[in-house]
Amino acid sequence: MIVTAPRIRVERHLGPAQLTRALHDDVTAGLTASPKTLPPKWFYDERGSQLFEEITRLPEYYPTRTERAMLLDVAPAVALRTGADTLVEIGSGTSEKTRLLLAALSAEGTLRRFVPFDVDEATLLAAGQAVAAEHPGIEVTAVVGDFEHHVPLLPRTGRRLLVFLGSTIGNLEPPARAAFLRAVAGSLATGDAFLLGTDLVKDVGRLQAAYDDAAGVTAAFNRNVLEVINRSLDADFEAQAFDHVAYWDAQREWIEMRLRSTRAQTVELRELGLEVAFAAGEDLRTEVSAKFRAERLAVELADAGLRLLQWWTDPAGDFGLSLSTPA
Ligand code: SAH
Ligand code: TRP
Repeated sequence: MIVTAPRIRVERHLGPAQLTRALHDDVTAGLTASPKTLPPKWFYDERGSQLFEEITRLPEYYPTRTERAMLLDVAPAVALRTGADTLVEIGSGTSEKTRLLLAALSAEGTLRRFVPFDVDEATLLAAGQAVAAEHPGIEVTAVVGDFEHHVPLLPRTGRRLLVFLGSTIGNLEPPARAAFLRAVAGSLATGDAFLLGTDLVKDVGRLQAAYDDAAGVTAAFNRNVLEVINRSLDADFEAQAFDHVAYWDAQREWIEMRLRSTRAQTVELRELGLEVAFAAGEDLRTEVSAKFRAERLAVELADAGLRLLQWWTDPAGDFGLSLSTPA
């Protein structure tokens, strides 16, 4: 049997040169700040995306399976209500759960186009190819870019449903989150819609376990960002000399992922001409994962210029899906 890969279109807003420059800037700014930070988009090289995929299957990590079960339930209603012909997925990753929405739009008879959009090109292209093979009639345009910058550049053709799943929005801090939502609202035409997945505030023990699993996969995912920096910036982080920490900030209602230096150490980043000293026990903050409440999210959507059409949660109230349109 001859198997040919279906052709998909690719749009790049981030080439290797821009990625390198952005990584340089982010790492220089983050490692010379106090406290030290790194932005989460650099987690997702090929290995990082693989580790994330493993996280989604962990017993402790409830968001993916909860959101999938909800989508199975609500996808037909979303398809009916939006009548979208173009599904644009932001931070698409493997687009695994998105298949449920594609199937519903296809059953509704409206689906013409799929636009997955992610910073990790390898995972993006594989997912785009897979969807093109499953829906031979549709056009697939994979967009390589940064959702903090390139939402306004996404294709505008058709009646669009923008989706942002996995509570990835929680990985943006409040000012960046507000800017992102404004960019989404600003890019929606009349008739377009925005489906957003948000993890909700819940029992702290369950939250902490979801970000510090027994098998250590999340710890490996967190440390992988150091390997990305070693490889890209000729640095000598010793990943095992950093402990994985998942800290619940009760006031901000977010989980903070940190890497804690197990001893005093100096790291050299040759590509940047930078030496960075860590004290024993010093934390490097790698990511926040905000947890939401329905009322507060409704206010944030309204502030951004979005009108909430519908809100769903699972029976346990663990996860929320919201469907909005331009106000
Ligand atoms: N939507 C999937 C994947 C979530 S993981 C799910 O729900 O399971 C977050 C995804 O967002 C990863 O695929 C990662 O590569 C992507 N991502 C993270 N930061 C990004 C950024 N700044 N711009 C574009 N994509 C980003
Ligand atoms: N969007 C996911 C979340 O916030 C990303 C994620 C899951 C993650 N586990 C992680 C990010 C561990 C960093 C570390 O739940």
